[in-house]
Amino acid sequence: MNGDTHDPFTTLDTDPFAVFDGDGDGDGHDGDGPEVYEIDAGSIDANGDLVDGTPPEGIPDDVVLQLDDVVKQYPGNPPVRALDGVSFQVRRGEFVVIVGPSGSGKSTLMNIVGALQRPTSGTVHIDGHSTSKLRDARLSAIRGRRIGFVFQQFHLIEGLSAEENVADGLLYTGMPRRTRIRRAREALATVGLEQRGGHRPGQLSGGERQRVAIARALVSDPAIVLADEPTGNLDSHNSEAVMDLLRELHDSGRTIVLITHDRDIAATAPRQVSMRDGRVIDDMAVAL
Ligand SMILES: Nc1ncnc2c1ncn2[C@@H]1O[C@H](COP(=O)(O)OP(=O)(O)OP(=O)(O)O)[C@@H](O)[C@H]1O
Ligand SMILES: [Mg+2]
Repeated sequence: MNGDTHDPFTTLDTDPFAVFDGDGDGDGHDGDGPEVYEIDAGSIDANGDLVDGTPPEGIPDDVVLQLDDVVKQYPGNPPVRALDGVSFQVRRGEFVVIVGPSGSGKSTLMNIVGALQRPTSGTVHIDGHSTSKLRDARLSAIRGRRIGFVFQQFHLIEGLSAEENVADGLLYTGMPRRTRIRRAREALATVGLEQRGGHRPGQLSGGERQRVAIARALVSDPAIVLADEPTGNLDSHNSEAVMDLLRELHDSGRTIVLITHDRDIAATAPRQVSMRDGRVIDDMAVAL
């Protein structure tokens, strides 16, 4: 069983970037006309906080993510229990690496943590809010504002410049285009690519593409950055550059959850969560 055969975009309940199609015409991009967004506007304030959603449920303030007994079963014959009772917490500012063999449930876990999929049972709290109690529109709002995704295959839009790809990370917010572009430039500077804003993905190296994807993940100032094998398509030099960037982001206070096969990368993280057969078999702080 190889999880890599599952394209995340064909197996997810939700396309993580669907919200980027601001004008709803399916082109993955907003038009130039007036920017009107059919979002659940009342539920999220300018800081991305839920203002009229379910109240936080006694989860401490510094816990950005909490999973309790999460089960995910995919239908089939026989059904696949990709997650079999997973519980853990991530505190604000942590750098957590999730390791485990292929098929152990890492990507499924990331999809559930990122509110791309709903668990079969169990609860997930993001920033203190239980995702199971949120309607789909609110769940997308949380996803758009509070979570930054980075994938192995970059998932940049080829027809758009680096700057526009990053600015798309803000479509959901309803910010005017000018503001989105300004913030995109700032995010590109954070990843050291201020000179490459006008380049399309095909004109960038793999490492640069992944840095653009990281800038897109950061541009909405998310509570948590989720990266699933972000170095999986990179050579060792570019992997190191991407890892250095993630470490810098952590040093500057970001909360990062990184999935990797690479034991050497995992060994450099302050906390390792090991998975096997859909369960957490080890969760340890590493003395660095
Ligand atoms: N949409 C799906 N339908 C049915 N089974 C699925 C689906 N997605 C994943 N699975 C199964 O769930 C299990 C966990 O898959 P997952 O992709 O989470 O593993 P992974 O740890 O990310 O693996 P890899 O390291 O290869 O990426 C696997 O047995 C996989 O075959
Ligand atoms: Mg995977």
